[in-house]
Amino acid sequence: MCGIVGYTGGRQAAPLLLDGLKRLEYRGYDSAGLALVADGRIEVHKAAGKIDKLEKDLGTTLPAGRTGIAHTRWATHGAPNTVNAHPHTDCGGTLALAHNGIIENAGVLRTALTKRGHTFRSETDTEVLTHLIEELHLKGRSLVEAVAGGLAQVEGTYGIAVVSTREPDTIVAARLGSPLLVAIGNRENFVASDASAVLAHTRSVVYLDDGEIAVVRPDEYHILDLGAVEKEKAVTHLDWDLATIERGGFAHFMLKEIMEQAESIRNTLRGRLLEEEGTAKLGGLNLADEALLQVDRIVITACGTSWHAGLIGEYMMEELARIPTEVEYASEFRYRNPIVDDRTLVIGISQSGETADTLAALREAKRRGARTLGLVNVVGSTIAREVEGGIYLHAGPEIGVASTKAFTSQIAALALLTLKIGRLRALSILQGREVVRALARLPDLVQRVLDKAPEVEGLAERLLRATNVLYLGRGYNFPVALEGALKLKEISYIHAEGYPAAEMKHGPIALIDDLMPVLFVAPKDAVYQKIVSNVEEVKARGGRVIAVVTEGDTGLAALADQRIEVPETLDLLTPILTVLPLQLLAYYIAVRRGCNVDQPRNLAKSVTVE
Ligand code: G6P
Repeated sequence: MCGIVGYTGGRQAAPLLLDGLKRLEYRGYDSAGLALVADGRIEVHKAAGKIDKLEKDLGTTLPAGRTGIAHTRWATHGAPNTVNAHPHTDCGGTLALAHNGIIENAGVLRTALTKRGHTFRSETDTEVLTHLIEELHLKGRSLVEAVAGGLAQVEGTYGIAVVSTREPDTIVAARLGSPLLVAIGNRENFVASDASAVLAHTRSVVYLDDGEIAVVRPDEYHILDLGAVEKEKAVTHLDWDLATIERGGFAHFMLKEIMEQAESIRNTLRGRLLEEEGTAKLGGLNLADEALLQVDRIVITACGTSWHAGLIGEYMMEELARIPTEVEYASEFRYRNPIVDDRTLVIGISQSGETADTLAALREAKRRGARTLGLVNVVGSTIAREVEGGIYLHAGPEIGVASTKAFTSQIAALALLTLKIGRLRALSILQGREVVRALARLPDLVQRVLDKAPEVEGLAERLLRATNVLYLGRGYNFPVALEGALKLKEISYIHAEGYPAAEMKHGPIALIDDLMPVLFVAPKDAVYQKIVSNVEEVKARGGRVIAVVTEGDTGLAALADQRIEVPETLDLLTPILTVLPLQLLAYYIAVRRGCNVDQPRNLAKSVTVE
């Protein structure tokens, strides 16, 4: 969370920085600011709220300067006001710094720095770093030496960019735990939290690893370790298309990403289905079949929507591959004393590949000797680089804060992995072929559901004034109920809960009355009859039932007050279809309620703090 972008080169930096910030706004939008170096001084502008506000305050005459840094904030320490907005400056205004992460020993350092005569302006943890660097820089250390010396005193995580009037065309950037890259242009260079901020200018990037410092000038860049030894780093050439990070005619990124799912799933599956052998070809696993055969237990770890995908993966793995599988919130896994060994396969699922808890959970698993895989969307992200192997989702950039297309691609990727592991173990070739064929048909079925968007929009009208919604599902669709509820609460701020349908009797049933909409995810699968009974229980108490059902299901049609139909597929793949109306429903409700669907309050897309 928090986005950083920096520029040094021959062009005016301010418009480039503002444009870059807008591309990073998904990382946080509590406040924004920029700092430009020109004429021996640093000019800083900040505003609470979104980047639009900063832009409005700046007006048409943007501050001059060919080197600068900018930041969009997701607040951790200190209220999201202008004073706490980044970049932060030192006492004398010699340097400015933007930070993503948390300095854990900020309190102690602040007391010591105050005693030494430093004046603090903000309540942020970041500002201590500014003053630590100032002390060394003003004593004659170069900017990079001062940054390294300052960083040596802090505990915590950071991605930082620093500029100084003493080295007016230099940006020093450093990373420990928060993503950062250097982007290489023609006689100009950038630093950024992710490539979307710079894609309009260059596609050549160098990803920083933890413990690395970059010194960036218009004509050169150097990557050093913390001991100031220069490192050779590979340049990655991105093949992203700029259009994929723009809204392309849709009102919101979220709607665009929902509507892209036939294509994004097609991309996840492309080249990976082996129909004849009834299995999947997964070139990036880096685990030989023999190694996969050694695995006697799987632990899936993730956060948020990715965790919901993990639950579906658990059901798949146990049913088809017959391997004991558990799913753990990464934040819990990392602080327990988890039982994993070299026969355990730990799979991290993460759209961004940067979520701090998921990354830490995988590191912990690795430390304990487990084999690790990542199901990641963002190519070159930290998780993707640190795991032994994995499956890229290839869903394309996901910008809307609420995850949609990454979720369905995660399920598709889990189905591929299940096929691969299953075929080495319990799954027959005939079963394997059936799954492969069903996967191949899936994108067309997805499109059929997406074409029903107007129908879902009509349904949304009826739910606008709900204050609570209960989502119920069983089997493979229990995690879909959780995901549907999460989508609704995170973007429309309507309270919603997901439950296994049968568990309703152990509590939530007490909430049901004629004002409480209950949304059943009930395709015709192995547990269909069971869920029909649960629908009856709700109806008997006057509840209002909305059901996602399989096309042609007349049984539930008679019971439900409203229904949305999805095509038939294998049980394990039903979540990919049943979640689509729930995503659309949350979207239309949020839009009608006037909520900012792409940037819901208090949330951020890439949660790089624990
Ligand atoms: C945040 C996002 C969610 C996402 C979760 C995990 O909470 O708002 O949409 O599911 O992080 O993110 P990851 O990138 O690890 O999948």
